[in-house]
Order: sequence, then structure tokens, then C-alpha cells
Amino acid sequence: MEKHISVAIDGPSGAGKSTLAKRAAKHFGFIYVDTGAIYRTVGYAAQCAELDSKDAAGVEALLPGLDIRFEYDGTGTQRMLLNGRDVSKEIRTPKSSIYASDAAAMPAVRAYLLEMQRETAKNYDVLMDGRDIGTVVLPDAGLKVFLTASTQARAERRCKELREKGMDTPFEEVLRDIEYRDRQDSSRAAAPLRAADDAVTLDTTDMDFEESFEALKKLIRERFSL
Ligand code: DC
Repeated sequence: MEKHISVAIDGPSGAGKSTLAKRAAKHFGFIYVDTGAIYRTVGYAAQCAELDSKDAAGVEALLPGLDIRFEYDGTGTQRMLLNGRDVSKEIRTPKSSIYASDAAAMPAVRAYLLEMQRETAKNYDVLMDGRDIGTVVLPDAGLKVFLTASTQARAERRCKELREKGMDTPFEEVLRDIEYRDRQDSSRAAAPLRAADDAVTLDTTDMDFEESFEALKKLIRERFSL
């Protein structure tokens, strides 16, 4: 079977992973898989079911009834479908971010989503972003990048991104949300956020988007001789 290229990009919330990964995937003709959106969709299902965000037994009971799919539009944007409904916008609110982070800490949720992610990488050249792609989901990825930036820089970027999507959220709220998720995503027992031993760290605190994009492109080009 033909071996596909896999690039794993991990890092904390708001490091610019999704924007960069999406652009790089388009540039190289890879599929961009935003795994955070998949966790967000599970979190959103829990929110819709009016469960407490930390109700692990309740969320686990929901899983067999969920039909989660992702598809791509012409621009390479990943749309999330929950039981046939497009929830791509609903999964981005600060409240659903908390639900996503809490759901992502549940081992049953991680196990449920693992195969879906691996299957995609088996069938396509992928650039997959998340928290545990290089450490758990694709330990054999040809390139692993740990993308990070200071907390302040990440909160500023997330605010801008939300504004561009028509959601004006106070900076303090976004900063609190990022700090909460950093703490939880890094300290949880199930697949905590950490750089894989063989990951290349890319700190973009002092880089603008184009500089970060150039640095990522260079890593991919060099690793795969593209
Ligand atoms: O990347 P994001 O902010 O959209 O991710 C939403 C939440 O899901 C975040 O709190 C971390 C979690 N997540 C995870 O635990 N593992 C992944 N592979 C992707 C996201």
C-alpha cells in the first residue's frame, strides 16, 4: 500500500495551529484535519443534551448515538456535522470551548475519536493538528511540530479570530478561557498536551503570520524533500 505523508502539529490553544496548518495543507495539497473541532463537536453534543460539562458518565452514554462527520468545502475549510447538522459555528463559542476541553479529558471520548483520526491519515496525505497527534494519534508521523507562543500573544490572536467570525468576546474572557484550557489540557491524565520527544518546536510569539508560515513550509519541504 502506498505510504501517505503525515504531518502532526500539536500545541496549546490559540498558537495559530489551525490557520497555519490549513494554509500549509492547501499549499502542499494535503488534507487538513482539525482534531480540536472533532472534540468540540462532542462537547457541543453534551451542551445540547444539557449535561454538566464534567459529567463523564453522561457524555459516555451519549457517544453511541452520535454521528460525527467532517467534510471539506472548496476552500479546504473543515465543516463539522453532528447528526447531519452543520455545527461548525456553534462549536466555536467560549462556552463550547470549555465543554470541548472537559470532554477531551475523558478517556472514553479520546478512545472513541482515535480510530476516526487514524483512519483519515491512513487514506490521505494529512496535516493534522491537535494536542496529542505526535504523541498518541500518529506516533510515526514523518514530521512532528510543536507550535507554541506566549499566553498573551495567543489570547490576542484568538480575540481577533473571534472578531473576524462576528463574535466580539472580551479579551479577559478569552485569556481566562486559554489559561483554563492550558492548565487542563496539560495536566489531564489522558493524553496530556506535551511535545513528542522527536518534535521540532516552533515558537511564534515574535513572528507574524507570514513568518510562521514560511518557517512551517521550510520544515515540511526539507523533511519530505518537496
Ligand atoms: O484546538 P481547539 O482549541 O479547537 O481544541 C478544543 C479542545 O479539544 C481543547 O481544549 C483541547 C482538546 N483537544 C485535545 O485534547 N486533543 C486534540 N487532539 C485536539 C483538541
